[in-house]
Amino acid sequence: MGTVALVTGANRGLGRALTEELLNRGVKKVYAAARDPHTLQDLSDDRVVRLRLDVTDAEQVRSAMEAASDVEIVFSNAGLALGTAIVGSSVLDQAQREMEVNYFGPLRLLQRLAPTLARNGGGAFVTIASVAGLTNVPFLPTYAASKAALHSLTQAARILLAAQGAAVIGVYPGPIDTDMSRALAIPKTSARDVAIAILDGVEAGQEDIFPDAFALEFARSFEASPKTSERQVAAMMLAAAA
Ligand SMILES: NC(=O)c1ccc[n+]([C@@H]2O[C@H](COP(=O)([O-])OP(=O)(O)OC[C@H]3O[C@@H](n4cnc5c(N)ncnc54)[C@H](OP(=O)(O)O)[C@@H]3O)[C@@H](O)[C@H]2O)c1
Repeated sequence: MGTVALVTGANRGLGRALTEELLNRGVKKVYAAARDPHTLQDLSDDRVVRLRLDVTDAEQVRSAMEAASDVEIVFSNAGLALGTAIVGSSVLDQAQREMEVNYFGPLRLLQRLAPTLARNGGGAFVTIASVAGLTNVPFLPTYAASKAALHSLTQAARILLAAQGAAVIGVYPGPIDTDMSRALAIPKTSARDVAIAILDGVEAGQEDIFPDAFALEFARSFEASPKTSERQVAAMMLAAAA
């Protein structure tokens, strides 16, 4: 993969695994972006360029994108999961913060980067969404809603950026073994295996990537019938509550 990549949230979890796997696959350069660049210090490869980037900060997005003027593929990975309910005093605040990171963050990147990608030959923009964005899995109801917004944005970007030759790729993982899903007592796939499957999918030219066994099973049910998928999730929630 001899390309110039950018990964948001590159300091830990899936973003770190994607960065390492890009390096393993011979990427020319990777812009590793994180809110605190000190958390990227152990990425010692010469091909790594560290960037400070909070995706909710328009000024940081502007200056990071200016610095990454040769980028060809973007992994919009940074994400936040807070809310476990739709009732209670913190619901709106948490839902808004999730939207800021999971939806407005990728939108800000697209707004700034689409022209850059066009100048660099079309480019590719990869959104890390979630199966929960296809059918709400209400262990994390407002997070899932923000990922549904991201899924919708991914579809729009795919159509609107086709004219410049950009590939827009949606990734829909199931549970990954990272800090985000620490509290969930369910089987999870390692971040490294998910990163490998994502990059395999990108290299194979897939538009929608389901990078683990849970996600593939979820996709089968969703593609057969979104309503069946919703009922299966409802049954799973009932079983978990019993
Ligand atoms: N874990 C799962 O089960 C799962 C399943 C499906 C999809 N996903 C998605 O996969 C992606 C990676 O998640 P993960 O599992 O690796 O979670 P994680 O371990 O919690 O890591 C989240 C990453 O996002 C960064 N981040 C959060 N807010 C940010 C902001 N405002 N600006 C820039 N970076 C920010 C974090 O940086 P800090 O260290 O600075 O907080 C961290 O690098 C997310 O989009 C997530 O929604 C995860």
